[in-house]
Amino acid sequence: MKSQDIRSKFLQFFKDKEHSIVPSAPMVLKDDPTLMFVNSGMAPFKEYFLGNAQPKNNRIADSQKCLRVSGKHNDLEEVGYDTYHHTLFEMLGNWSFGDYFKQEAIAWAWELLTEVYGIDKDILYISVFEGDEADNIPMDQEAYDIWKQYVSEDRILMGNKKDNFWEMGDQGPCGPCSEIHVDIRSAEERAMVDGKSLVNMDHPHVVEIWNLVFMQYNRKANGSLIALPNKHIDTGMGFERLCMVLQGVQSNYDTDVFTPIIREIETITDKNYGKNDKVDVAIRVISDHVRAVAFSIADGQLPSNTGAGYVIRRILRRAIRYSFTFLDQKDPFIYRLVDVLCKKMGDAFPELKSQKQLIENVIKEEEASFLRTLDQGLVLLDGIVKNTIGDTVSGEKAFELYDTFGFPIDLTALILSEQGLKLDEQGFKEHLEKQKNRSRAASEMSTEDWTILIEDAEQEFIGYDTLETNVKITRYRKVTSKKDGDMYQLVFNLTPFYAEGGGQVGDKGYLEDVNGDVVYILDTKRENNVVIHFTKNLPDHLNETHKATVDAKQRYRTECNHTATHLLHQALREVLGNHVEQKGSAVHSKYLRFDFSHFSKLSMEELRDVESFVNARIAGKLELKEQRNIPMEKAVEEGAMALFGEKYGDTVRTIRFGQSIELCGGTHVKNTGDIWYFKIVSEGAVAAGIRRIEAITNDALKDYFVDVNRTFNDMKVLLNNNEPVKALQNLQEENSNLKKQVEALLKDKTKNLKGDLKNELTEINGIQFLAKKIDLDAGGIKDLCFELGSQFDNLFLLFGAENDGKALLSCYISKELVSEKGINAGQIVRELGKHIQGGGGGQPFFATAGGKKPEGIEEALKAVEEYLK
Ligand code: ALA
Repeated sequence: MKSQDIRSKFLQFFKDKEHSIVPSAPMVLKDDPTLMFVNSGMAPFKEYFLGNAQPKNNRIADSQKCLRVSGKHNDLEEVGYDTYHHTLFEMLGNWSFGDYFKQEAIAWAWELLTEVYGIDKDILYISVFEGDEADNIPMDQEAYDIWKQYVSEDRILMGNKKDNFWEMGDQGPCGPCSEIHVDIRSAEERAMVDGKSLVNMDHPHVVEIWNLVFMQYNRKANGSLIALPNKHIDTGMGFERLCMVLQGVQSNYDTDVFTPIIREIETITDKNYGKNDKVDVAIRVISDHVRAVAFSIADGQLPSNTGAGYVIRRILRRAIRYSFTFLDQKDPFIYRLVDVLCKKMGDAFPELKSQKQLIENVIKEEEASFLRTLDQGLVLLDGIVKNTIGDTVSGEKAFELYDTFGFPIDLTALILSEQGLKLDEQGFKEHLEKQKNRSRAASEMSTEDWTILIEDAEQEFIGYDTLETNVKITRYRKVTSKKDGDMYQLVFNLTPFYAEGGGQVGDKGYLEDVNGDVVYILDTKRENNVVIHFTKNLPDHLNETHKATVDAKQRYRTECNHTATHLLHQALREVLGNHVEQKGSAVHSKYLRFDFSHFSKLSMEELRDVESFVNARIAGKLELKEQRNIPMEKAVEEGAMALFGEKYGDTVRTIRFGQSIELCGGTHVKNTGDIWYFKIVSEGAVAAGIRRIEAITNDALKDYFVDVNRTFNDMKVLLNNNEPVKALQNLQEENSNLKKQVEALLKDKTKNLKGDLKNELTEINGIQFLAKKIDLDAGGIKDLCFELGSQFDNLFLLFGAENDGKALLSCYISKELVSEKGINAGQIVRELGKHIQGGGGGQPFFATAGGKKPEGIEEALKAVEEYLK
């Protein structure tokens, strides 16, 4: 059975059992502070389990893209070494939200596996929760009794909390579970060793394929459990493992999910899979990681230096490292695998197909830049090795290489071992630990449990229609972070406050009690579908009615920017073409930012056209046409475009201004005329194939014009001229003539200086040496170094110079000395930088350091002489 058929059979089976089939939600979560990526099929449905929202159908089934690379479920470091773990995998799941429970979940799982897929009952094992004293939960007798109807009791095992009590994270919905394990060893092996003894023993051929979770509890922040309002079913079957079983192979990587990618890797790298352990691990790593990275880029999460983007960057770098080391790939090639991946999975996941070009560009650029890092790292490591006395390289140096240059530690260890050297791993770990502690201390945040003031309260958002209303506080809690100190989060029964989302910032405002006492609301966010208001203080009379008022001015400015963002999106597609897709936006009160796919810099003319397009629609005074709760299909029919990486419900809201129509939950002006005017203030690249425009409207633009006008007038006064452009051109011309003259003079000076300096060289240990403070700029010193350098092959120069109160050190070392003596100008200036309170670097034969303490130059000159001696 092909993997595509395996997937559709699953969905069809549950469709026949009255489940709604839904597409996979995006992998990157936006409104859940406890979770970065969807790590299991149930994560996108968390709000239903918590009772914060109601699904249209309380039976759902899907195949969800999951990523287990951070937090509680993290398999990253295992991937590649075994044949059945992945970073990204598909989880087939069926859900009941307060509908059917254990009886049906178990019966259907058994029917699907044994009757539809035809898996032999004799190779299946079941596990049931044995209970836990600390949590005060008994053994799951109910599940046991149901399973007994299908399997003989000797195939039912008892499992502990680690294996048979499923929790999504440290907090949240959880419950006992029953796992279904499958034994795919050969008949002979099975006859020799009982499969039962291998369940949960990390045997590659006795693996869990399906987990049925009986959601009954909610784990609170203090670690205790409370019962959920309703009982639910959450199941998750590993799609790739199921394919392994049904395709009769012994490894996920031998299923048709992976083989096309692996064949492509073999072709490109000229290596064979299945011949050498190290090569095999590398090929598995790459074929796994390219999927994770491609899917997250398709979902809008690009590699970056922080948060989720950093996790993605690390995954890709891990793949590059393995291909660099074990497949000898020194040029980008992983991006070339995207093509086969799209062919294989593009039908089930159309986002892959439509984002293909972008995915390839981004991966290629990341590969190229990390390969450069690896190259530089190799040179630096060489220097470290040369300066190492004894056979152990210091952990501190290795850490520096890792931390400052991103050079992977396992590669350092490998290269050192190839040279017969050791790495002080303990020292490295200590430095790593210290750094982790530093960043942990900086980001630590603790959250108390909610204090409930009104039980089972629902919440309604009324902020599209009003900015002020009387509210009741239904619950609150304290959160403490290093950055913001103590804050309170408040939930109301109804709220006019817009919660950060869809790029738009959260509303600010205040709460006022009957006595006129005011508590400011500093921000509004959404968490698992609940709107949360942030305050610095708790209101005195929590149980009383309060008037909640949104800061209307900030809201209005934000709305101008949000509507302008829609018009900008329309303008870009009109001016640049329909390949433009929104890749992110930030709508603030002071400015807007819009990221979009496009492959070259916008010309002045294009920018002008985009601006005019938007301003024409502002001048056209187009009225807002809003539709709430219309079916998704209808919105799409009318021309609204769904964005990849966004999660939409069955019904959506559309915002139309003239021909611009978008799916949007944000707030907008009533008429484009309210925006007054639109101006682009910057355009640039964010990543390969992604551009960013920043723009302003309304009040910010008025301020901008006042500013520009002031600067312009100041300029006129300074230039003493009513035609400043002309005056500037004259000045430029004069300046360039003067520059030429100065350069000629400096050349002469350098020539004279060269003769003088040559006489000042002294010989130390066979090296022609000079350390001196001279009066030249950086370029002049560099020329001088290279001119002198061309006459010697054993030259060592250190020049100090002072310009504009700043210190500069330039170090030149003949290439011959660099390789013979293992001395390195880059390292030397970094060391000497301390004397001038600065730092620097460069090549082994020429490097410079800048600093803010010119008085230290003399010290540095002396120090280097000592060093040479
Ligand atoms: N949520 C369950 C799991 O991920 C099904 O194993």
